[in-house]
Amino acid sequence: MDKRIEGFSKLTKAEKIDWITQAHFKNPTTAESQLSDYWNSDSDLQNKHDEFIENTLTNFYMPLGVAPNFLINGESYTLPMVIEESSVVAAAGNAAKFWQTRGGFKAEVLDTIKVGQIHFSYSGDVQLLHSFFNKNKTQLLESTAPLSKNMKARGGGIQSMELVDKSDLIPDYFQLHLRFKTADAMGANYINSCLECIATELEKLAQNEFKANDGVQLEVVMSILSNYVPECLVRASVKCPVSKLSPSKDWPGETFAKKMVQAVEIAKREPYRAVTHNKGIMNGVDALVVATGNDFRAIEAGVHAYASKDGHYTSLSNAYIKEEVFYMELTLPLALGTVGGLTKLHPMVQWSMELLGNPDAKTLMKIVAAAGLAQNFAALRSLVTSGIQKGHMQMHLLNILNQMGATQIQKEKAITHFKNHTVSVKAVAQFLQNNNS
Ligand code: MEV
Repeated sequence: MDKRIEGFSKLTKAEKIDWITQAHFKNPTTAESQLSDYWNSDSDLQNKHDEFIENTLTNFYMPLGVAPNFLINGESYTLPMVIEESSVVAAAGNAAKFWQTRGGFKAEVLDTIKVGQIHFSYSGDVQLLHSFFNKNKTQLLESTAPLSKNMKARGGGIQSMELVDKSDLIPDYFQLHLRFKTADAMGANYINSCLECIATELEKLAQNEFKANDGVQLEVVMSILSNYVPECLVRASVKCPVSKLSPSKDWPGETFAKKMVQAVEIAKREPYRAVTHNKGIMNGVDALVVATGNDFRAIEAGVHAYASKDGHYTSLSNAYIKEEVFYMELTLPLALGTVGGLTKLHPMVQWSMELLGNPDAKTLMKIVAAAGLAQNFAALRSLVTSGIQKGHMQMHLLNILNQMGATQIQKEKAITHFKNHTVSVKAVAQFLQNNNS
């Protein structure tokens, strides 16, 4: 059957499924029931999900787990985490418990500035452009008044707008670089609407201004927010006397603290390690970002750009020992929202928000940063002590058992057995062979 199709998006859901399964699957009936098995029996709820994106056929489940005992700025939180990696929630919970008895996490928002840019080309005298911009700046900003009214009432709005000459990079390339505050919204729609409004006004004013000047042209290329937000920053930290840092009886606090600092030093200087180190941080960050309906691609892009802000990719976290006290901290750019987007639409996002006590955007930034730091601490703790595979494979045991079709009784026996034995695919297969009931 032909795998190309015209007008797919115009078909009904049933027609789409029919075509997809006929054209792409060996057994269309099985493929179709795999899709319908994941529909929600409540058709209103299913419709809601269908309408999030185009061409929805079914739902794709991810587990939502919780990590309790997070003490952040003296408040206790249970974190909702959406993630498929088996060891992440357990690691978060362990780190939270460890720090709960050592003062907990401290977190502070350093700033909440977001950025948007209008990229345009201009051929003409640069001084002329500067005086045109200065003359019309107020009018350009005022053109957004209807869009900004509510945002201003909530304490947000445009904070600054600058003309930037980038013609050393690309001939005739200039920008209007705008800084925004968006209160509790992530703000993408507000920022992009303001930018498009100013861009239209800019072209209109430029046409009038430059029409008499032969050859002088100003043309907007595009207007869009930036996901690079180095001024939308939150810092989370933990500290405790080195003597109280011991993670187990085999590891005195002094030895452990020194190894943790060494591990972070390596990530600061060695990009291969830094990427994995930061990936561990993002295990905690993304799980919460997804659970709270925020845009994890935007967060990922912004965080990794920030990790290379000084010209080389480095660790996002820092650790040091000063006067016998161990310090670990994490600074992240996090443009998060607690209103708008999916927050009112997705029932599980609402549930997650309620679990967190319906935080405002700044509080959510602090919680997410603490989750990232907890995850980083947990990963390094395993890496510098037992190694990562022991805990990781323990958590992965159920996945391996399920893949091998183990019965409930076999699973229970295996969990007991592997408490004292190393988990590997081979060892689990052998165990199932020896315990085949
Ligand atoms: C695995 O998802 C994350 C780690 O690799 C992080 C790290 O190495 O720091 C364990």
